Amino acid sequence: MTDPGERLRSSLAADQSPTASSASSGGLADFDSPIAMEALRATRVLHASDQEPFPAPGRIRVITIANQKGGVGKTTSTVNLGVALALYGLRTLVIDLDPQGNASTALGVDHTVGTPSIYDALVGDSTLSEVVHPTTASPNLLCVPATIDLAGAEIELVSVVAREHRLRRSIESYVAALPQERRPHYVLIDCPPSLGLLTLNALVAGDEVLIPIQCEYYALEGLGQLLNNIDLVRQHLNPGIAVRTILLTMYDGRTKLADQVADEVRNHFGELVLGAVIPRNVRVSEAPGYGQSVLTYDPGSRGSTSYVEAARELAHRGSALQPLDGAAGSNGATPVGALSFGETAVPFRTQDSQ
Ligand SMILES: Nc1ncnc2c1ncn2[C@@H]1O[C@H](COP(=O)(O)OP(=O)(O)O)[C@@H](O)[C@H]1O
Ligand SMILES: [Mg+2]
Repeated sequence: MTDPGERLRSSLAADQSPTASSASSGGLADFDSPIAMEALRATRVLHASDQEPFPAPGRIRVITIANQKGGVGKTTSTVNLGVALALYGLRTLVIDLDPQGNASTALGVDHTVGTPSIYDALVGDSTLSEVVHPTTASPNLLCVPATIDLAGAEIELVSVVAREHRLRRSIESYVAALPQERRPHYVLIDCPPSLGLLTLNALVAGDEVLIPIQCEYYALEGLGQLLNNIDLVRQHLNPGIAVRTILLTMYDGRTKLADQVADEVRNHFGELVLGAVIPRNVRVSEAPGYGQSVLTYDPGSRGSTSYVEAARELAHRGSALQPLDGAAGSNGATPVGALSFGETAVPFRTQDSQ
C-alpha cells in the first residue's frame, strides 16, 4: 500500500484539469468516504500555492460584478472569486462599491466611518493607493472598503465634474503609478443593488461585466434593464464594456426549478455562462460572519471548491486575452481603455437594444 501522503499528492496532481468539476474527477477515486473527500478538497484549497497557479490574463482585467437585484450573490461572488484568484497566485484588488460594505466585512477589512475608503477617492481627493487595505486572506489580495458615507455619494457626485468617470480615473492613475510587478491582474468591483451613479461609475470603469444569477424563480426579472443600461454605457461612455461572464449562484440540486433556471440562462447566454455552478451552501453564508471568505472559513466545503472552479475558468478564459499594442500611454500610464478587450469583444446585445 502506498503511503497516504503519496496518494494525496498524486490525486492532487491528477486533478489539475482546468474544467474538472470539484467533486466528480477521477483524482478523487481513492478517497471514497465523504470525510476523506472533504479533507482532500480542503487540502487542495488550503495549499493552493503548492499547486499550479492560475494563468495570468493577457492584460489587467477590470470586472464589474453587477445585477440590480439584491441578494443574488454579487458580494459573495466578488469576495470568493477574489480570494480564489489571489490564493492561486494572481494579484487581485476588490473594490467595494456598496455603501453596506458587505465585501469589506467578508474580507475582514474595517469599514467604520472614518476609515479611508472608496468614498474618499470618488467624492474626495484621495488616490486609490491611499485607501487600499491589505486582507488576511492572501498577500495577493487588497481591498478598497466602503463605509456608510458612500450612501451619500449618489447625491454628492451629481455636481462633480466628469462624475461618471471618477472610478475609472482612480483605477487608471492607481495602476499607472505602480511598477509592473505590483499591478493587479484582476480588479473586481462589487456593485450596489441599484442602477444609480455608483453602478454607472463601475460600468464606466470596467472592461467587462460579470452577472451573478441566482437559480431561483424571477431570476431573469429586471435583467433586460441591466443589459440595456450596459448597452447605453457602451454607446456613450465606455465602448469596451460588454457582458463576458454569467455565474449561476445558489443552485439547489434538489429542486427542478434550479435546473430549469440554469437551462434557461444557458439557452439565453450560451458560452458566457461559466460551466462551474455555485451551489446553495450554508458555509458560504456563514463565512462573512467570521470576516472570512468561504475558502478560508471552510476550504473543503462545496461552496469553497465551486468558487475555486469558477475562478479557474475565469482565469483560463482571461489567459487567452492578447495584450494591446501601445497599451502604455505617452506619459507611461496604462489607460484602462487600453486594457479592455477592444475589437476582440463579442458584445452581448439584448433583442430590444438598438
Ligand atoms: N451559494 C450560497 N449559498 C448560501 N447562501 C448564499 C450563497 N451565496 C450567497 N448567499 C447568501 O445570500 C445572501 C445574499 O448574497 P449577497 O452576495 O450578499 O448578494 P448581493 O450582493 O447580490 O446582494 C447573503 O446572506 C449570502 O451569505
Ligand atoms: Mg452585495
